Amino acid sequence: MSTHINAKKGDIAESVLLPGDPLRAKWIAETFLENPICYNEVRGMFGYTGTYKDKKISVQGSGMGIPSAMIYYHELINDFGVKNMIRVGSAGSYQKDVTIRDIVLAMAASTTSGINNCRFINADYSPTANFDLFMKAAVYAKEHKIPIKAGNVLSSDEFYEDDPDAYKKWAEFGVLCVEMEASGLYTVAAKYNVKALAILTISDSLITGERTTSLERETSFRQMIEIALGVL
Ligand code: ADE
Repeated sequence: MSTHINAKKGDIAESVLLPGDPLRAKWIAETFLENPICYNEVRGMFGYTGTYKDKKISVQGSGMGIPSAMIYYHELINDFGVKNMIRVGSAGSYQKDVTIRDIVLAMAASTTSGINNCRFINADYSPTANFDLFMKAAVYAKEHKIPIKAGNVLSSDEFYEDDPDAYKKWAEFGVLCVEMEASGLYTVAAKYNVKALAILTISDSLITGERTTSLERETSFRQMIEIALGVL
Protein backbone atom coordinates (compact mmCIF):
# COMPACT_ATOMS: atom_id res chain seq x y z
CA MET A 1 0.00 0.00 0.00
CA SER A 2 1.21 3.55 -0.70
CA THR A 3 -0.02 6.89 0.64
CA HIS A 4 -2.66 7.40 -2.08
CA ILE A 5 -3.11 3.93 -3.59
CA ASN A 6 -4.69 1.24 -1.44
CA ALA A 7 -3.29 -1.81 -3.23
CA LYS A 8 -0.86 -4.61 -2.42
CA LYS A 9 2.35 -5.23 -4.34
CA GLY A 10 1.39 -7.44 -7.26
CA ASP A 11 -2.12 -5.95 -7.57
CA ILE A 12 -0.88 -3.49 -10.20
CA ALA A 13 0.58 -4.52 -13.58
CA GLU A 14 3.98 -3.38 -14.89
CA SER A 15 2.14 -1.59 -17.71
CA VAL A 16 -0.43 1.07 -16.82
CA LEU A 17 -2.79 3.34 -18.77
CA LEU A 18 -3.22 6.72 -17.11
CA PRO A 19 -6.30 8.82 -17.84
CA GLY A 20 -6.78 11.96 -15.73
CA ASP A 21 -10.43 11.20 -15.04
CA PRO A 22 -11.00 8.29 -12.62
CA LEU A 23 -14.38 7.52 -14.22
CA ARG A 24 -12.57 7.24 -17.54
CA ALA A 25 -10.28 4.68 -15.87
CA LYS A 26 -13.40 2.70 -14.87
CA TRP A 27 -14.80 2.96 -18.40
CA ILE A 28 -11.52 1.84 -20.00
CA ALA A 29 -11.20 -1.12 -17.61
CA GLU A 30 -14.81 -2.23 -18.10
CA THR A 31 -14.73 -1.71 -21.88
CA PHE A 32 -11.33 -3.08 -22.87
CA LEU A 33 -10.04 -5.40 -20.13
CA GLU A 34 -11.12 -8.90 -19.19
CA ASN A 35 -11.95 -9.56 -15.54
CA PRO A 36 -11.16 -6.04 -14.32
CA ILE A 37 -10.73 -5.75 -10.56
CA CYS A 38 -10.80 -2.40 -8.79
CA TYR A 39 -7.73 -2.12 -6.53
CA ASN A 40 -8.10 1.52 -5.48
CA GLU A 41 -10.94 3.80 -4.41
CA VAL A 42 -8.96 6.20 -2.18
CA ARG A 43 -10.14 9.78 -2.97
CA GLY A 44 -12.33 8.28 -5.71
CA MET A 45 -9.19 7.87 -7.84
CA PHE A 46 -10.12 4.49 -9.28
CA GLY A 47 -7.48 1.98 -10.33
CA TYR A 48 -8.23 -1.33 -12.06
CA THR A 49 -6.23 -4.36 -13.14
CA GLY A 50 -7.38 -6.87 -15.76
CA THR A 51 -6.04 -8.58 -18.84
CA TYR A 52 -5.87 -7.54 -22.48
CA LYS A 53 -5.02 -10.36 -24.92
CA ASP A 54 -3.78 -12.37 -21.88
CA LYS A 55 -1.44 -9.60 -20.73
CA LYS A 56 -1.90 -8.04 -17.29
CA ILE A 57 -2.70 -4.33 -17.65
CA SER A 58 -3.74 -1.70 -15.11
CA VAL A 59 -5.61 1.57 -15.56
CA GLN A 60 -5.17 4.28 -12.95
CA GLY A 61 -6.85 7.71 -12.75
CA SER A 62 -4.36 10.49 -11.99
CA GLY A 63 -6.52 13.58 -11.44
CA MET A 64 -6.09 16.90 -13.24
CA GLY A 65 -2.81 18.81 -13.33
CA ILE A 66 0.82 17.95 -12.74
CA PRO A 67 0.81 18.05 -8.90
CA SER A 68 -2.01 15.51 -8.60
CA ALA A 69 -0.82 13.30 -11.44
CA MET A 70 2.81 13.18 -10.24
CA ILE A 71 1.71 11.72 -6.90
CA TYR A 72 0.15 8.74 -8.69
CA TYR A 73 3.02 8.39 -11.19
CA HIS A 74 5.58 8.46 -8.35
CA GLU A 75 3.77 5.88 -6.21
CA LEU A 76 3.08 3.55 -9.16
CA ILE A 77 6.80 3.47 -9.98
CA ASN A 78 8.30 3.45 -6.52
CA ASP A 79 5.76 1.44 -4.53
CA PHE A 80 4.35 -0.90 -7.18
CA GLY A 81 7.21 -1.42 -9.65
CA VAL A 82 5.42 0.01 -12.71
CA LYS A 83 7.69 0.10 -15.80
CA ASN A 84 5.55 1.25 -18.77
CA MET A 85 3.23 4.23 -18.40
CA ILE A 86 0.92 5.58 -21.07
CA ARG A 87 -1.12 8.68 -20.37
CA VAL A 88 -4.34 8.72 -22.37
CA GLY A 89 -6.09 12.07 -22.26
CA SER A 90 -7.68 14.98 -24.04
CA ALA A 91 -6.07 18.19 -25.29
CA GLY A 92 -6.96 21.55 -26.82
CA SER A 93 -5.55 22.33 -30.27
CA TYR A 94 -3.11 25.21 -30.84
CA GLN A 95 -2.72 24.67 -34.60
CA LYS A 96 -5.07 25.00 -37.61
CA ASP A 97 -4.12 21.59 -38.94
CA VAL A 98 -4.70 19.84 -35.58
CA THR A 99 -8.45 19.44 -35.53
CA ILE A 100 -10.93 17.99 -33.07
CA ARG A 101 -10.85 14.17 -32.78
CA ASP A 102 -7.22 14.09 -34.03
CA ILE A 103 -4.84 11.85 -32.09
CA VAL A 104 -1.51 13.39 -31.03
CA LEU A 105 1.58 11.54 -29.77
CA ALA A 106 3.50 13.85 -27.44
CA MET A 107 7.16 13.64 -28.48
CA ALA A 108 8.03 16.24 -25.86
CA ALA A 109 6.09 18.22 -23.28
CA SER A 110 6.81 21.88 -22.57
CA THR A 111 5.22 23.31 -19.46
CA THR A 112 4.15 26.42 -17.56
CA SER A 113 4.63 24.44 -14.34
CA GLY A 114 7.53 25.20 -12.03
CA ILE A 115 8.28 21.53 -11.27
CA ASN A 116 11.66 21.53 -12.95
CA ASN A 117 12.74 25.06 -12.02
CA CYS A 118 13.81 23.83 -8.61
CA ARG A 119 15.64 20.84 -10.12
CA PHE A 120 17.53 22.63 -12.89
CA ILE A 121 18.31 26.10 -11.63
CA ASN A 122 18.70 28.70 -14.44
CA ALA A 123 18.30 25.98 -17.09
CA ASP A 124 15.45 24.23 -18.93
CA TYR A 125 15.00 20.46 -18.87
CA SER A 126 13.20 18.94 -21.90
CA PRO A 127 10.83 16.17 -20.82
CA THR A 128 10.50 13.70 -23.72
CA ALA A 129 8.62 10.53 -24.60
CA ASN A 130 10.33 7.15 -24.43
CA PHE A 131 11.50 6.35 -27.96
CA ASP A 132 10.52 2.66 -27.83
CA LEU A 133 6.90 3.36 -26.77
CA PHE A 134 6.71 6.28 -29.18
CA MET A 135 7.86 4.20 -32.16
CA LYS A 136 5.54 1.32 -31.26
CA ALA A 137 2.59 3.73 -31.11
CA ALA A 138 3.51 5.33 -34.44
CA VAL A 139 3.95 1.94 -36.15
CA TYR A 140 0.73 0.52 -34.63
CA ALA A 141 -1.23 3.56 -35.84
CA LYS A 142 0.26 3.30 -39.34
CA GLU A 143 -0.43 -0.44 -39.62
CA HIS A 144 -4.01 0.06 -38.45
CA LYS A 145 -4.53 3.13 -40.66
CA ILE A 146 -5.25 5.39 -37.69
CA PRO A 147 -4.04 8.90 -38.59
CA ILE A 148 -1.84 10.51 -35.94
CA LYS A 149 0.09 13.72 -35.45
CA ALA A 150 3.24 13.98 -33.33
CA GLY A 151 5.22 16.82 -31.80
CA ASN A 152 5.74 19.10 -28.84
CA VAL A 153 2.74 19.66 -26.54
CA LEU A 154 2.21 22.07 -23.64
CA SER A 155 1.39 20.81 -20.15
CA SER A 156 -0.26 23.87 -18.68
CA ASP A 157 -0.79 24.56 -14.98
CA GLU A 158 -3.94 26.55 -15.76
CA PHE A 159 -7.05 25.55 -17.66
CA TYR A 160 -8.50 29.07 -17.46
CA GLU A 161 -5.84 31.59 -18.48
CA ASP A 162 -6.13 35.38 -18.01
CA ASP A 163 -5.00 36.09 -21.57
CA PRO A 164 -7.03 34.28 -24.26
CA ASP A 165 -4.16 34.89 -26.72
CA ALA A 166 -1.45 33.37 -24.50
CA TYR A 167 -1.50 30.20 -26.61
CA LYS A 168 -0.25 32.07 -29.70
CA LYS A 169 3.38 32.19 -28.51
CA TRP A 170 3.43 28.41 -28.05
CA ALA A 171 1.68 27.94 -31.39
CA GLU A 172 4.30 30.11 -33.11
CA PHE A 173 7.01 27.76 -31.80
CA GLY A 174 5.23 24.70 -33.17
CA VAL A 175 3.51 23.39 -30.04
CA LEU A 176 0.56 21.30 -31.24
CA CYS A 177 -1.85 21.33 -28.31
CA VAL A 178 -2.37 21.89 -24.59
CA GLU A 179 -3.09 19.41 -21.82
CA MET A 180 -2.10 19.33 -18.15
CA GLU A 181 -0.01 16.27 -17.18
CA ALA A 182 2.44 14.92 -19.80
CA SER A 183 5.45 17.00 -18.73
CA GLY A 184 5.16 15.67 -15.16
CA LEU A 185 4.88 12.12 -16.46
CA TYR A 186 7.96 12.40 -18.68
CA THR A 187 9.96 14.01 -15.87
CA VAL A 188 9.20 11.41 -13.21
CA ALA A 189 9.63 8.55 -15.70
CA ALA A 190 13.07 9.88 -16.68
CA LYS A 191 14.08 10.27 -13.04
CA TYR A 192 13.27 6.63 -12.25
CA ASN A 193 14.28 5.20 -15.63
CA VAL A 194 10.91 3.81 -16.70
CA LYS A 195 9.15 4.20 -20.07
CA ALA A 196 6.45 6.80 -20.65
CA LEU A 197 4.32 8.13 -23.48
CA ALA A 198 1.34 10.50 -23.66
CA ILE A 199 -1.32 9.90 -26.31
CA LEU A 200 -3.89 12.67 -26.62
CA THR A 201 -7.19 13.16 -28.40
CA ILE A 202 -8.10 16.69 -29.41
CA SER A 203 -11.33 17.61 -27.63
CA ASP A 204 -11.41 21.36 -28.33
CA SER A 205 -9.69 24.05 -30.36
CA LEU A 206 -8.29 27.27 -28.90
CA ILE A 207 -8.34 28.69 -32.46
CA THR A 208 -11.92 27.98 -33.54
CA GLY A 209 -13.60 27.47 -30.15
CA GLU A 210 -15.00 24.15 -31.41
CA ARG A 211 -15.59 21.32 -28.89
CA THR A 212 -16.34 17.64 -29.35
CA THR A 213 -19.64 16.22 -28.12
CA SER A 214 -19.41 13.49 -25.49
CA LEU A 215 -20.34 10.91 -28.15
CA GLU A 216 -17.56 12.09 -30.47
CA ARG A 217 -15.13 12.04 -27.55
CA GLU A 218 -15.98 8.42 -26.88
CA THR A 219 -15.32 7.35 -30.48
CA SER A 220 -11.98 9.10 -30.78
CA PHE A 221 -11.05 7.97 -27.27
CA ARG A 222 -11.56 4.36 -28.37
CA GLN A 223 -8.94 4.68 -31.12
CA MET A 224 -6.48 6.23 -28.70
CA ILE A 225 -6.96 3.39 -26.18
CA GLU A 226 -6.61 0.88 -29.03
CA ILE A 227 -3.19 2.39 -29.87
CA ALA A 228 -2.12 2.42 -26.20
CA LEU A 229 -3.11 -1.20 -25.66
CA GLY A 230 -1.47 -2.15 -28.97
CA VAL A 231 1.79 -0.64 -27.68
CA LEU A 232 1.64 -2.43 -24.33
N1 ADE B 1 -7.54 19.34 -22.08
C1 ADE B 1 -8.45 19.38 -23.06
N2 ADE B 1 -8.63 20.63 -23.50
C2 ADE B 1 -7.78 21.40 -22.76
C3 ADE B 1 -7.50 22.77 -22.75
N3 ADE B 1 -8.14 23.60 -23.58
N4 ADE B 1 -6.60 23.23 -21.85
C4 ADE B 1 -5.99 22.39 -21.02
N5 ADE B 1 -6.20 21.09 -20.99
C5 ADE B 1 -7.09 20.59 -21.86
